[in-house]
Amino acid sequence: MRCTGLLLFPLLISHAVKALDNGLALTPIMGWLHWARFMCNVDCDADPDNCISERLFMQMADVMVKEGWRDAGYEYVCLDDCWPSRRRDASGRLQADPARFPGGIKKLADYVHSKGLKLGIYSDVGAETCAGYPGSLGHYEKDAQTFADWGVDLLKFDGCNMRWTRLAEGYRNMSRALNATGSRMVYSCEWPLYEWDFHKPNYTAVRETCNQWRNYADVYDSWSSVKSIAEWTALHQDAVAPWAGPGGWNDPDMLVIGNFGLSHDQQESQMALWALMAAPLLMSNDLRSLCPRSKALLQNRRVIAINQDPLGRQGYRTATLGSFEVWERPLSNRVLAAAVRNKQEMGGPQKLPIVKVPGWTTCGSLCNVTQILPQYKELGVQWQRTALAVAVNPSGVVLLTFHPILD
Ligand code: GLA
Repeated sequence: MRCTGLLLFPLLISHAVKALDNGLALTPIMGWLHWARFMCNVDCDADPDNCISERLFMQMADVMVKEGWRDAGYEYVCLDDCWPSRRRDASGRLQADPARFPGGIKKLADYVHSKGLKLGIYSDVGAETCAGYPGSLGHYEKDAQTFADWGVDLLKFDGCNMRWTRLAEGYRNMSRALNATGSRMVYSCEWPLYEWDFHKPNYTAVRETCNQWRNYADVYDSWSSVKSIAEWTALHQDAVAPWAGPGGWNDPDMLVIGNFGLSHDQQESQMALWALMAAPLLMSNDLRSLCPRSKALLQNRRVIAINQDPLGRQGYRTATLGSFEVWERPLSNRVLAAAVRNKQEMGGPQKLPIVKVPGWTTCGSLCNVTQILPQYKELGVQWQRTALAVAVNPSGVVLLTFHPILD
């Protein structure tokens, strides 16, 4: 008997709400952002190689071109907090810290553009950033115009130091101000994150205003942090996942792959989950000294293709089976991507028969199965009652795609 291939996702019905209409982020953006790895290191005397300075961003841009990052799709080189001078200039414009960015942001943007990359900048909806640098409150038009004049391509707009009841107005006003400059800038928001403590955010408005939005806490360089983000997303998936789609994405925060806190299996888990969540892929690591295995994972074309799938549906956690959980994401051409996680953090690899993957029913009678992680492997044509099982390492993942063979 042939299964009808009914998808389990309530989810295939995504909200038909229009995205911010700037033509950007039609697939999740990819790039590099300094925060998780370099934080607010402003001591260039003591630590010239790792402080937040134009040199750091120029070096990252160089490596992104030389070592295949740009070709793999990583395009945005992004500043986070702590780039500006503590004072605005005489005409009230934000300015970069003159000692750390002697050339200024315009010159940095020109440099980044000359490499075929894009530059992202950071500010805050309130009067100060989270780290206490000048924020944009009272200066939205001026700051938007300054960023446009500099040739900036993305604004990460943080939500510190603003009453939650004023977030909507602030984020919307900045969105309008960016639009009014006539320059196209990806608008990356943290608005829902700062509202969730008080009420359920208005995602219709968020999606109309922002190209991507943070919902939950900052990522740290640890497995407990990455796990908690995945768990939050799964627990809130009905509230957040339907809002993702071309032009607007849920942002579970940076990829910390290649740093100190995750085992290789955990790095694979982050990469697979971020691909299935249709997340922006913003790495925060030191590209100048990345271990080859992490680099190969971050540049894995098959995983990136899942993340960048043009259908733009966000995946869901579809099953929890003992120590396993399964996440699934419908891709274009009726392909399904599935991540099987082993949440047990001791022992050895555990086996799960793939017929237990809920989306397996979408295969009809026959399916071509490909394992993407941990290693690429064609698992061949499998029928509906296949005995095929995957072995998943503790805190690791097996990422699969199922291509239905239609009759
Ligand atoms: C907040 C944001 C982080 C980072 C810091 C910078 O915590 O959520 O992503 O931008 O501020 O201070």
